[in-house]
Amino acid sequence: MTKRRVLITGALGQIGSELALYLRDCYGEDNVLATDLSDKKERALPEMHFEPLDVTDRKRLHELVKEYRIDTIINLAAILSATGEKLPNLTWEVNMGGLVNVLEVARAENCSVFTPSSIAAFGDSTPKVLTPQVTIQRPSTMYGVTKVAGEVLCDYYHKRFGLDTRGVRYPGIISYKTLPGGGTTDYAVHIYYAALQKKAYTSFIAEGTKMDMMYMPDALKAVVDLIEADPARLVNRNAFNVTAMSFAPEELAEAIRKQIPDFELSYDVDPIRQAIADSWPDSLDDHCAREEWDWSPEYDIDRMTEDMIRNISI
Ligand code: NAD
Ligand code: SER
Repeated sequence: MTKRRVLITGALGQIGSELALYLRDCYGEDNVLATDLSDKKERALPEMHFEPLDVTDRKRLHELVKEYRIDTIINLAAILSATGEKLPNLTWEVNMGGLVNVLEVARAENCSVFTPSSIAAFGDSTPKVLTPQVTIQRPSTMYGVTKVAGEVLCDYYHKRFGLDTRGVRYPGIISYKTLPGGGTTDYAVHIYYAALQKKAYTSFIAEGTKMDMMYMPDALKAVVDLIEADPARLVNRNAFNVTAMSFAPEELAEAIRKQIPDFELSYDVDPIRQAIADSWPDSLDDHCAREEWDWSPEYDIDRMTEDMIRNISI
């Protein structure tokens, strides 16, 4: 594995709070710096090197990159889809302003950059089933707008300045350590807590609404597999479709019933998040990731459900 010194933005979020520890195990404790807007590191990452950082503050980002001799920036600071519709201006400022800062600092200090895109980069006019790697992208949310623009901007920095930019289009990420931060796929996390506490869940996403999902261990593995991939094999760079499973709420409920037989699912659909979900793919075609950097997820819906229920129960 390459020796790296990594800075993570947005490290106290759902993905960052687990990715920071995963990267520490890969690259060593003194080679990973976690940063986030909040300085409440004791809650999520008490044992990590941590600095407060607002990603919209380019000067501070640049200082930290120089001070810690960073060579790789993992940019996770973002406002997600549902919160983004409440706060579209902030979403633009953080998601795009932050990314421009990360790319400019990376250019000045010759860092590699990993930034996740999302299934939100697609829209109503995108083919819904086995959505191709390269296809129509006209998203209807501000979050999606920033994700498409981010994909294209990262490609631009690679082509124009030779920056080593890479990224995946994550589907909904399911995990039990840190709750999700205001997305449309969050129901697929909340359902497990409700199943264990009340044996019942009321879904804000309607029956029959399929979306791609992935269990956190696969999401973490994807980051390191891609940043360590041989660049000569990468045709795509910044927006690899990756998926592990695709299901609707009732299919997840069926998987939960294999562990909790009397679990009951009902619906109280939220029109805003439902419209977002309806505009996203049912299932992604991730063959480019499989061919170019050997992407291969380990968790399907049943294995993930067993692991989620076992861990939330502890
Ligand atoms: P999250 O909402 O859980 O965490 C985001 C973090 O960013 C939070 O800790 C927040 O404090 C921080 N943040 C917000 N504004 C900031 C600012 N101005 N400066 C610094 N930090 C700031 O999000 P997540 O789920 O961990 O997502 C991480 C990345 O992965 C995002 O780019 C997101 O779009 C992408 N992604 C996530 C999912 C998912 O299901 N979780 C799916 C697709 C893509
Ligand atoms: N899980 C994210 C969301 O729902 C997808 O990017 O916003």
